[in-house]
Amino acid sequence: MEQKIQFDEALIKRYNQSGPRYTSYPTAIQFEESFGIDAYKEAALRSNESGRGLSLYYHIPFCDTVCFFCACNKVWTRDRSKTTPYLQRLFKEIEMQSQLFDPARKVEQLHLGGGTPTFINNDEMRQLMEKTRQHFNLYDDDSGEYSIEIDPREANRESVKLLRELGFNRMSLGVQDFDEKVQKAVNRIQTQAETFEVLEGAREAGFMSVNVDLIYGLPLQTEAGFLRTLDRVLEAEPDRFSIFNYAHMPSLFPTQKKMNEADMPNADEKLAILHASTERLLEAGYVYIGMDHFAKPDDELAIAQRNETLYRNFQGYSTHAECDLVGMGATSISLINNTYAQNRKSLEEYYQAIDAGDLAVFRGVQLTEDDELRRDVITRLISHFHLNFVKIDALWNVRFKEYFATELANLSPMVEDGLITLSDEDIYVTAKGRLLIRNICMVFDAYLKPDMQNRFSKVI
Ligand SMILES: C[S@@+](CC[C@H](N)C(=O)[O-])C[C@H]1O[C@@H](n2cnc3c(N)ncnc32)[C@H](O)[C@@H]1O
Ligand code: SF4
Repeated sequence: MEQKIQFDEALIKRYNQSGPRYTSYPTAIQFEESFGIDAYKEAALRSNESGRGLSLYYHIPFCDTVCFFCACNKVWTRDRSKTTPYLQRLFKEIEMQSQLFDPARKVEQLHLGGGTPTFINNDEMRQLMEKTRQHFNLYDDDSGEYSIEIDPREANRESVKLLRELGFNRMSLGVQDFDEKVQKAVNRIQTQAETFEVLEGAREAGFMSVNVDLIYGLPLQTEAGFLRTLDRVLEAEPDRFSIFNYAHMPSLFPTQKKMNEADMPNADEKLAILHASTERLLEAGYVYIGMDHFAKPDDELAIAQRNETLYRNFQGYSTHAECDLVGMGATSISLINNTYAQNRKSLEEYYQAIDAGDLAVFRGVQLTEDDELRRDVITRLISHFHLNFVKIDALWNVRFKEYFATELANLSPMVEDGLITLSDEDIYVTAKGRLLIRNICMVFDAYLKPDMQNRFSKVI
C-alpha cells in the first residue's frame, strides 16, 4: 500500500471534534468496579491455553518536576527515597502476577512508562530487570521489543548504556519543544545538548529504534518556532517521531491551569503547525504511520503497516499483535484475552492493596462478542487504513455488510468528502482521510454519545 497523506485544511477543520484515541476499545470510561481481582485471575489463567506471548508493562510514576501540560499518570517529587517503597510493592506484584502465567510463555514485548522510568537509579533499574528475568521468560537476544520512555533530563550516556545491557532495544525520548520561551511557559527546561547526548548514546549502545515526542499547541508556540525545533531534532535523524496534539483538559489535569490560555495557539495556528511539520517530515523521508506517528520507511512500524501486521494498544503502535498484556504498577492497565483490568491509581491505594497480599486490580471490563468485533474493526482501520469485509466475516462469523449496515450508511458523508473509498469488499482510507482516522473509527464505536465528547481531547 502507498503510505501517503494529503493535508486538506478545510476538511480537517470541519471534522475537528473530540474523540477517543483508541488505545483501547471500549475506552476506560466503560471499565466497571464489578470487574475485580477474581475476574482478572480467571482471565489470566484462561489465557494460558492460547500459549500466546506476553507483553509486560511497568508503570513508574515519579517525575522530578512537573511539566504543566502533562496529562500522564504521574507523581512529582524531589524525594528520591520514594522509589524504595514503590519498588517493594512492584516486586511483590511481579511475583504474584508471574504465578498466573505459564512460565513457557515468552515475553515478546516489555515497556517501561511513566511518569519517568529513569527516575529510579541504575541499581534499582538493575534490580527491576533481574526480578523480571527471575519471574518471566525474557529473551536474551533482541528478539523481543523491549522499550523504555526516557526524559533526557533524567538520563545520560552511562545510564543509556546500562539500559541496553539490561536488554532494552527501543526507546522513546520526551522533547516536546526546544524553544526556551515555550520551555519556560510549560516548566520544562531541557537543552538540546542533554537531549542529543542521550540520542547519540542510544545509537552507540546499539538501540534498534529511537522515537522522539514533540507536542504542538503549547503556549507561545508558532509555526516558525516549532519548525526550528523539528529541524534541530531532525539533525539527529531519529527513527520515529510522535507529534502529539496538546490535550488541554484542565479540569482533569489542574497543572494545565498554570499556563496562560491566551498564549496558546488557536485552532488555525495549530493546524498551520501540524501542516508545516507534516510536510517537513515527509520531505525528510518519513512516512505517516497514523495517529500522530511518523517513521522512517525502513523502520519496523512502517514495514508492518505496509504488510498489515501493525497493531495498536496502550503503548501506541506495535508489531506484536498476538500478546496478552500484563500491566504492573499503580494505574496500569492489562489486556488479557477478552478483558481489560486496571490497577488502583493512587500510591496509597496501590500500596494498601499489595500489602494486603493480593493484586491491585480495582476495575475492568469483559468484552462482549460485539465489543471484540468492533475492537478488531477499529484496530485494523487505525493501523492499516484498510479493512477487508471478507476477512472480518471469516474471523467473526458475521456478514459485515449486514452487521454494520447502519455504520456503512453513516460513512456515506465521509465517502462524499473523500476520506474513504467504499467498495463491495473493502474500506480504504484515502490520503486525505488518514489524518482524520479517529473520526472514521468513531463511526464503529457503539459507546460514543454526544455528552461524552468533553471527556476526550480534540482530534486537532
Ligand atoms: C510519560 S511521558 C514521556 C516520558 C517522560 N516523562 C518525558 O516527559 O520525557 C509521555 C509523553 O506524553 C506526551 N504528553 C504528556 N502530556 C500531554 C498532553 N497534555 N497532550 C499531549 N501529549 C502529552 C509527551 O509528549 C510525553 O513525552
Ligand atoms: S511529561 Fe513526562 S516528565 Fe513531564 S510531568 Fe509528564 S510524565 Fe513527568
